[in-house]
Amino acid sequence: MSNSRKVAIITGASQGIGAGLVKAFRDRDYRVVANSRSIKPSSDPDVLAVAGDISDRAVAERIVKEALARFGRIDTLVNNAGVFVAKPFTAYTVEDYANILATNLNGFFHITQLAVAEMEKQRSGHIVNITTTLAEYAIDGVPSVLASLTKGGLNAATKSLAIEYAKRGVRVNAVAPGVIKTPMHGPETHAALASLHPVGRMGEISDISDAVLFLESAGFVTGEILHVDGGQSAGH
Ligand SMILES: NC(=O)c1ccc[n+]([C@@H]2O[C@H](COP(=O)([O-])OP(=O)(O)OC[C@H]3O[C@@H](n4cnc5c(N)ncnc54)[C@H](OP(=O)(O)O)[C@@H]3O)[C@@H](O)[C@H]2O)c1
Repeated sequence: MSNSRKVAIITGASQGIGAGLVKAFRDRDYRVVANSRSIKPSSDPDVLAVAGDISDRAVAERIVKEALARFGRIDTLVNNAGVFVAKPFTAYTVEDYANILATNLNGFFHITQLAVAEMEKQRSGHIVNITTTLAEYAIDGVPSVLASLTKGGLNAATKSLAIEYAKRGVRVNAVAPGVIKTPMHGPETHAALASLHPVGRMGEISDISDAVLFLESAGFVTGEILHVDGGQSAGH
């Protein structure tokens, strides 16, 4: 098998946006390493499933080790695994706080540190963090400070890492979605959620994968937070 075909690691890949990203990268003939806690082995020989909790350093180490053993390189990392819990501020439990920070922040830190080291050796690579428009534009009636705390941190880290690695061939970008039609949101909530967007609809998974693939091919774009949110970040 040729070693020149690119390799993408996608976290949170068992469903929703992550599963859509696996398909989108495979459609571009990337080989893919797909992670989530419950992910099942794939019948596609170009998809390597590595199960485990992305907040655990040992899981991140396993993903990178198995990616290199099977495919020999790492070109792209999409930090997609994430949890969203909307609650009034004082209703968050200590467990909520620990879980949300673990998945959204530790889940970024460990795998990014390990993958970027491989990209630096190659002198090329691309990291995309999936954040949320809510981090910058909070919505009355959708209290979610822990989403803002963690995804806002990822937005800031996106810019910081982009600058740190700009001269080393590694680009770092973010996609900030509005509300996307995934299993995260039950169908009974769709009408209300659609109305949060100036365009009057929820986003589709393909809206996000299209944006990630755009950034993937946009060699002069780094440190960008690309809002894919039906106009939410423009105003109401
Ligand atoms: N959908 C939206 O409206 C929306 C809006 C803004 C931002 N986002 C962001 O987009 C990303 C994907 O959202 P989604 O709607 O596709 O979510 P989803 O349908 O709930 O899927 C989440 C994925 O992450 C995995 N996951 C959760 N915790 C994990 C952990 N600790 N380690 C490894 N994998 C983990 C889940 O699989 P397992 O259960 O098997 O681990 C699943 O594959 C998230 O970061 C989310 O915050 C979504």
